[in-house]
Amino acid sequence: MDYIRWGDKEVSRVGFGTWVIGGNDWGLQSDSDSIDALREGMKLGFTHIDTAQAYGHGHAEELIGKVISKHREKLFIASKTVCRPPHKIEQAVQLSLKRMKIDYIDLYYIHWPSSRIEYAPVMEILQKLKRQGIIRAVGVCNFSVGQMIDCMRAGPIDVHQLCYSLLWRWPERDVLPYCKENRIITITYSTLAQGILTGKFPYDFVFDKADHRRSTVFFEPDVWPHVYHAVSEMQKVTQHEGVSLASLAVQWVLQKETVLSALAGARNPLQARQNVSLLDSKASDSALKQLTEISDDVMKHIPDSGNIFRYYP
Ligand SMILES: NC(=O)c1ccc[n+]([C@@H]2O[C@H](COP(=O)([O-])OP(=O)(O)OC[C@H]3O[C@@H](n4cnc5c(N)ncnc54)[C@H](OP(=O)(O)O)[C@@H]3O)[C@@H](O)[C@H]2O)c1
Repeated sequence: MDYIRWGDKEVSRVGFGTWVIGGNDWGLQSDSDSIDALREGMKLGFTHIDTAQAYGHGHAEELIGKVISKHREKLFIASKTVCRPPHKIEQAVQLSLKRMKIDYIDLYYIHWPSSRIEYAPVMEILQKLKRQGIIRAVGVCNFSVGQMIDCMRAGPIDVHQLCYSLLWRWPERDVLPYCKENRIITITYSTLAQGILTGKFPYDFVFDKADHRRSTVFFEPDVWPHVYHAVSEMQKVTQHEGVSLASLAVQWVLQKETVLSALAGARNPLQARQNVSLLDSKASDSALKQLTEISDDVMKHIPDSGNIFRYYP
């Protein structure tokens, strides 16, 4: 694992994503697998843990609270809440602290923008919590440039968490350049394109009914054939390189300026072990360039739907 210094923490450049262990959106998930995955991941080198109130309505945070105590001081823990009035944000932060049994959160995000809430009071409360040391950095996720500009009138954004991968490059158009110009650190989610960039899905894969991936853009009938073809082409590069596709996909994202860390979800100890090793073998510039070319082609077939979920709160 590679690390990057942030304050007094060494933040792992691959972060452990905990959406799946919330248990409500990715099909069947057992708590024992989730706990074992977290323990294994932390033991082997993840220091960046990404969670949210929304992951299992607090369940992911509760599981984190069961396993982190002896690691807390070296962990960089990020959590999130939906955009809501300031007093509710304060309550949400307190509940997250309680569930995780900690007394500060390293990075706290607004999970999604909202057309119904004014951003200035939201940012003001986050800045107040930061001054009090209850949170140590302020983040937003999935915000457009316009929404970030609105927020920044009331205070600085430290981090923007966004979907970004070889299969989702729309943020290159304006969001990533804006973050770079304004010195906003970026952290990427769905870096493995929800598992697609491990190369494990056969063409006719069928998801469990309770798995939200059934409805993400990548698996739409007019998109999936192109995605599947691109992944097959990428795998030819990986075979030549002797590095896994997941590893190349994460390294491709991490080479971009401003990207501090790339999140990868893991639902069991095996995935945690594999993901903690994603940076062990370094990719050559030529392999990364070939991946970019394949990505350039497939992006012509991936609709600019705002986000991969077609979710517009
Ligand atoms: N801010 C936001 O709005 C937002 C949105 C999405 C995600 N996130 C954060 O980002 C994290 C990562 O994103 P993500 O979970 O959407 O997608 P991801 O990391 O691209 O994909 C995670 C899924 O891929 C599969 N996978 C992961 N590692 C694997 C391995 N080594 N071998 C085989 N399969 C593997 C697993 O699913 P299966 O085993 O079921 O295939 C896993 O649940 C989330 O957990 C969450 O913390 C934030």
